[in-house]
Amino acid sequence: MKTMLNVALPKGRLGEKVYAMFERAGFECPSIKETGRKLIFENPEAGVRYFWVKPSDVAIYVEHGAADIGVAGKDILLEYEPDVYELYDLDIGKCRMAVAAKKGFRYSADKTLRVATKFSNITRNYYASQGRDIDIIHLNGSIEIAPILGLSDVIVDIVETGTTLKENDLEVFETIVPISARLIANKSSFKFKGDAIERIMAGLETEKADK
Ligand code: PRP
Repeated sequence: MKTMLNVALPKGRLGEKVYAMFERAGFECPSIKETGRKLIFENPEAGVRYFWVKPSDVAIYVEHGAADIGVAGKDILLEYEPDVYELYDLDIGKCRMAVAAKKGFRYSADKTLRVATKFSNITRNYYASQGRDIDIIHLNGSIEIAPILGLSDVIVDIVETGTTLKENDLEVFETIVPISARLIANKSSFKFKGDAIERIMAGLETEKADK
């Protein structure tokens, strides 16, 4: 019998792209295209079981072994530092983590910087590396509003097209790190289902080379 690989996919547009890559790599699961509210799909012939999870939860499933592998944004990996193997850069879902502020913003030497973000860990590490004192205001979304209302001086957030910043009169002040989607694996799955995981990686690699 074929080894069954449990794969956590990030729900949404990125996840659909990721599934298409896995399908082309030979790990197809036609039932996944059915519409409805079902979250788990499997194809025993291809040795694969997919489940859709919230993008920020993929690494949790993989770390705990509920999924053998998954695809998560580098932002999530940097923020939560899950104990997983980061195997492969899929080169999709590209964006960057950046500091943004109102036009003309400058750091002040004598005031503690107030930073609004969803990514507190990334923010803390970034400013610690710069030796700058900050106060973090942790928000859960619509971060761009914070500097407009005077809740913070800057934000740390994901910038993809830059449209959200532009439409809220903000601009990138500094880029922290480029982000893209990564294939991750549970550490013990990598040991015990290594062959199947290697086959997926090889398939993804071939398809990248075709581009
Ligand atoms: C993300 C991010 C920015 C936006 C950037 O928000 O937080 O707000 O996308 O994309 P852009 O540069 O192409 O405009 P998301 O849609 O994930 O919602 P959020 O408000 O929950 O962060």
